[in-house]
Amino acid sequence: MACFFRRSIAAKLGRTLQQSEDALLPALSAVPLFKKGESPDFKLSINTLRNSGILPSEDDIQQQTEKLAKQLKQDSIVEEVSVGPVVINFKVDRKLLVQKILEQFGKNEDEKFGLNSELFKPLKKGTTLVEYSSPNIAKKFHAGHLRSTIIGNFIANLKQSLGHKVIRMNYLGDWGMQFGLLGAGFGQFGCKKKLKQNPLQHLFEVYVQVNKEAEHNEGIKEAARDFFRQLEQHESEAMSLWQHFREITVDEYQHVYKRIGVHFDVYSGESFHQGQAQEVVQQLQSQGLLKTSERGTGVVDLSPAGDMSSVCTVLRSDGTTLYITRDLAAAVDRKEKYQFDEMIYVTDKSQANHFDQLFQILLALGHSWADSCQHVPFGLVRGMKTRSGEVVFLEDILDEARTRMLHNMSQSKTTKKLENPEDTAEKVGISALIIQDFKGPLLSDYTFDWERMLQARGDTGVFLQYTHARLCSLIRRNDDAQAATFDPSLLLEQTSIGICQHLLRYDEVLYQSAQDLQPKHLVNYLLKLCHLIASAHRELPVRGSSLQVAQARLRLFSGACSVLAGGMKILGITPVQRM
Ligand code: ARG
Repeated sequence: MACFFRRSIAAKLGRTLQQSEDALLPALSAVPLFKKGESPDFKLSINTLRNSGILPSEDDIQQQTEKLAKQLKQDSIVEEVSVGPVVINFKVDRKLLVQKILEQFGKNEDEKFGLNSELFKPLKKGTTLVEYSSPNIAKKFHAGHLRSTIIGNFIANLKQSLGHKVIRMNYLGDWGMQFGLLGAGFGQFGCKKKLKQNPLQHLFEVYVQVNKEAEHNEGIKEAARDFFRQLEQHESEAMSLWQHFREITVDEYQHVYKRIGVHFDVYSGESFHQGQAQEVVQQLQSQGLLKTSERGTGVVDLSPAGDMSSVCTVLRSDGTTLYITRDLAAAVDRKEKYQFDEMIYVTDKSQANHFDQLFQILLALGHSWADSCQHVPFGLVRGMKTRSGEVVFLEDILDEARTRMLHNMSQSKTTKKLENPEDTAEKVGISALIIQDFKGPLLSDYTFDWERMLQARGDTGVFLQYTHARLCSLIRRNDDAQAATFDPSLLLEQTSIGICQHLLRYDEVLYQSAQDLQPKHLVNYLLKLCHLIASAHRELPVRGSSLQVAQARLRLFSGACSVLAGGMKILGITPVQRM
């Protein structure tokens, strides 16, 4: 497939330029489909050749391009060589293109298409730890947690598809003064029965109530401090209540995560690292990195000039640790436990500075592996609401997506009779959420819009699902035309060629997403694929064609369907067979 063509063009260039194939590969890439007219298949970037010293960079670049193009003759693989602005375009033999792309399908591993590309060979594939979702016990699950959940899941899926060993970690906010308040508050406002019935709801209520109370009631504040002190000293009664809160929260979350197809290998949390956090402070001290501020807090000087103009607080004046101190300890602990080759944190952009400081302090402590840690920041979501108001729990948003989608399905003329319409509505609703979120750069803020994201036409998750279900139905209905072989010369219409050209680019798109960890490349690629498939449905009927034509077209549709399904799964979407 893509590698076959890339290699043969590189070999051809290699002979002309007296270079190895491998040296030329980075300058070659598949061409995104033009809006109008037929596009070439590959392009060679002359700039890349100059930058890598293969061509002299003093010469006039366009003359250089033309000269090289003239030296390249067509052959049995390359049908046409043409010159563009500082690029040379290659069009490969049409029949061979169709043959090479579509012969990949019809095996059992269709969804692996593109994943074994040699583009991924140079990538270091070790262990990747991805930390995402990370909500806080008894607090709201806000839009930022939702974004972190789906983005982290995407990154983990992508890395895994490309052959990394992935550890999926949820780092709960399960420690700090708020647990003093919660513990003290539970004594007053808590109810064991309600806790059992609806744990997240009840913990949240108690937490809200006790915070209100603490505004004017010194007694409750005192009780909270007392409770937290008991926790820090691991007194068994306080600890077992805290443990219980944590356990029921994790149970509930596991349940809800399952609905969006998300899971974690490890539920860690801030609580795991309170002891180690003090050790980190001692290390900072012994390495002379811990300074005392005027206010009596423990700080690390991060200013380039060493004049304390920019510091990071790691210790309160009462000697207790902070969020960052626990993160320092957590990072060291994870490195020891999992020996990761890279670690990725997914949170909103307001924590960018926190992670910057975290990595700087780790480096100062001599942990050079901090360079392999990365924060993936994302923007804010405005206006995430349900019909009943503000979103407090992940479940609220999932329920709303399901209800709205179910309603839309009942209004739609194309909806089929389904065994479990709720389940389908849920999967489609969630894909709408994900696509809305993944379409732009992660760093951008956006406004949540139920109406727009659930539209069946337009670039939505519903459109992806609809296209997938329609392809599945076509394949089901034409089972008799499924064949082990097909004749590529029956697929030379522009519509078929366009789909094959688009499939040619799949590995490069995955590569791009793996480089910058942005899902938009894959999303826009899949949306484009769906538009191409829509034209193919109109122009390339299967029913009523001769058996040979039907077989060939079915192969094209099956291939497109596999890539669509595989791509959706990487995004964290469960493709539906019917809707
Ligand atoms: N629990 C935090 C919050 O809700 C997010 C944790 C992010 N991860 C970390 N290692 N600090 O804001």
